[in-house]
Order: sequence, then C-alpha cells, then structure tokens
Amino acid sequence: MPRVFKALEIEKEEKEIMRDYLDRHMPHVICPDSVKRGDRFQVKVRMGDQYPHPDEDDHYISVIQLWNRETLLAEARYSAGANGHRPSHVEVDFHLVAPDVSMNLSALAVCTKHGLWQSEDKAVKVND
Ligand SMILES: [Fe+2]
Repeated sequence: MPRVFKALEIEKEEKEIMRDYLDRHMPHVICPDSVKRGDRFQVKVRMGDQYPHPDEDDHYISVIQLWNRETLLAEARYSAGANGHRPSHVEVDFHLVAPDVSMNLSALAVCTKHGLWQSEDKAVKVND
C-alpha cells in the first residue's frame, strides 16, 4: 500500500517549509455545494493552487481519480508531455448525474516521482 499524502496530516511548520512542493501536488475538487437529484453537473479537479507541476518525461501527473466516499467514480490518465512539456495546473472536468443521496467527493492524484496525493473532502448536498 503506498503512502497517501493528505494536507490535513502534515504539521504546520512542515507546511511552511514545503509550501511549493505541497501546493503543486494537491488536487482540488471544484463543484457546486448542492445539486438537484438526477441533474448532470460538472466536477473539476485541478492540481495545485499557486505552484504549477512539471510535465517532464520522468516526472508528471499520470492519474487523477474522483471518489465518492469509498467508490471510484471516474479517472483520467495522462502520458508525459500531454500537458505541453511545461509546468501547469493539470485539470480535468468530470460530468456526473446527481444520485439520490448526498455525496462526499475527494480526488486522488499520482505524481510519477512523488507518489499519491489526496484532496480535502468536498461535501455535495443533493436536493429534490
Ligand atoms: Fe511531482
């Protein structure tokens, strides 16, 4: 089982020292706080906030997954160079249909050099 890096588990002092490293590897789940049951909606996963991640032959973001609690909903896979061989905020848009019950979304991302990274949870309420 690989180590999973989570923002919440890293000490505050460590966060300051490794700010750019942590930021460029952290996936962010961006979507509405609430959706209507049965409606299609967009969930964007974006890597990093301030610092872009490299896209080199031996160092790139290879997988972005979207989870609802313990269920894998969707994933995107990238080859080296798919993001222009230059640093960027890799992002992918998933389009889902809102289920019957509220969701707790999170994203996992794989860096080919620095391992597996988990986003913060994003609660999505489902309304009638
Ligand atoms: Fe990396």
